[in-house]
Amino acid sequence: MVDYNNISPEQWEKIEREDHDEQYKDSRPFSANRYKIDIPHVIWWEDYCYKKGRRPDRGHRTRKTFDVMNLENLRGKTILDIGCGNGQYSVFFALLGADVYGFDISAVGIEVANKIAKENDVADRCNFSVQNASHIDYSNEFFDIVFMHEVLHHTIKYPNVKDEILRVLKIGGIVVCADGTVGNPMLRIGRYFTMKGKESMGDVKLKHSDLDELSIGFSDHSIEQMSFFFMGKRVFQNWLMFPPIRWMLYCVKKFDDVLLTLFPGLKRYCGEFVMVLKK
Ligand SMILES: C[S@@+](CC[C@H](N)C(=O)[O-])C[C@H]1O[C@@H](n2cnc3c(N)ncnc32)[C@H](O)[C@@H]1O
Repeated sequence: MVDYNNISPEQWEKIEREDHDEQYKDSRPFSANRYKIDIPHVIWWEDYCYKKGRRPDRGHRTRKTFDVMNLENLRGKTILDIGCGNGQYSVFFALLGADVYGFDISAVGIEVANKIAKENDVADRCNFSVQNASHIDYSNEFFDIVFMHEVLHHTIKYPNVKDEILRVLKIGGIVVCADGTVGNPMLRIGRYFTMKGKESMGDVKLKHSDLDELSIGFSDHSIEQMSFFFMGKRVFQNWLMFPPIRWMLYCVKKFDDVLLTLFPGLKRYCGEFVMVLKK
């Protein structure tokens, strides 16, 4: 039996690759049932999750990444999508005019990414490959934007990742990360109820100190921390489609928004963030 708390990056890569290969098999972009991506629909769907019909869980933070990336202005930008999975965000950005390079340790993810790019007629603006963020196979100062969507808590297990990102990013370029952190009391309760017994599977979670460490070496950084009581959504993760649950979470989120405005010090204990690092 593998000791998940004490394993090498090579072992991690094998475990994660197999796990994600399984997830991406037959996957479609944005949980849809077709390969074609409808840009206005994705922007609508990736929104505050308590709104009717929207993505039920993390749309609010993804939408924030769209805001900081300035979607109207992506034409001609060169984007690196680290841990691109099935390439859904890469293709989305390519449809908006960017030249996108996406990589992942999952070969199945990359296979699906190429298919999604082809079905959306942007294969010429998408370049997908199997790589590990520890050794990025692109030249120095090549990218305007490095996009890390729900990936940082994976790449934290591997060496050299920050150095590699800094190397391939242009001066003035930005890294945009969206992810979750531990340290939120509601999340701890939610994980207790929903993940009991699975913690030992080595689901590495980011700490706020990891984010502080990551920002060292960049010329500037900003972080939007969100979701205090709202992290309790975890307890309801299997019922997020039910209107009364969403309505209740809507109220909790609104309460959070007010609470965090009044007491910004609580942001340190929030469970989700969008971080922008500038080289
Ligand atoms: C939660 S998924 C997010 C996928 C994609 N960014 C998205 O949001 O649709 C995390 C992805 O990171 C990939 N990954 C994990 N460690 C990696 C590494 N060291 N280098 C490259 N990709 C990695 C996994 O294979 C997985 O596809």
